[in-house]
Amino acid sequence: MAIERTLVVIKPDGKKRKLTGLAIDRLDQSNLEMVAAKVVKVDRELAEQHYAALKGKPFFENLVKFFLGEFHGFKTCRLLALIYEGENAVAEVRRIVGATNPEEADPHSIRGSFGKINPKNGIMENVIHASGNTEDAKREIALWFGEGNIES
Ligand code: CMP
Repeated sequence: MAIERTLVVIKPDGKKRKLTGLAIDRLDQSNLEMVAAKVVKVDRELAEQHYAALKGKPFFENLVKFFLGEFHGFKTCRLLALIYEGENAVAEVRRIVGATNPEEADPHSIRGSFGKINPKNGIMENVIHASGNTEDAKREIALWFGEGNIES
């Protein structure tokens, strides 16, 4: 099996609801190693680049605003970004994190346990981001950490 790296970001809803430690605890129950951690000040450019593949979707603007913390009262949005490494890291983290839609996510997963769809605006508040595949993981790690900025 391949040794992979994957990106995790605690989203503004997870930060606001104080779920950071819990999410790390769940991820710690895997055999993966946390190889980098960084608090990143998220600006519109980073949010738009992070979600570049979804540009053109009707929910894109709300997704960007959500990531900027605008729905959770953060004037400056600093989010914790983590890199996990190990066998099958992308799929393993996705398994622990759960499906995108919290209502469809395994109830044992982070999103299944703590995510919700906001009844006021229909936005998925799914607590945590995890790269969807190895290509996305490489791109996202470079975006959030910069090339060559991770301890080897
Ligand atoms: P995430 O897995 O972080 O990355 C893509 C995000 O887009 C996803 O979380 C959801 O928040 C959002 N998303 C994906 N599909 C939809 C959808 N059909 N409607 C609204 N938001 C979506």
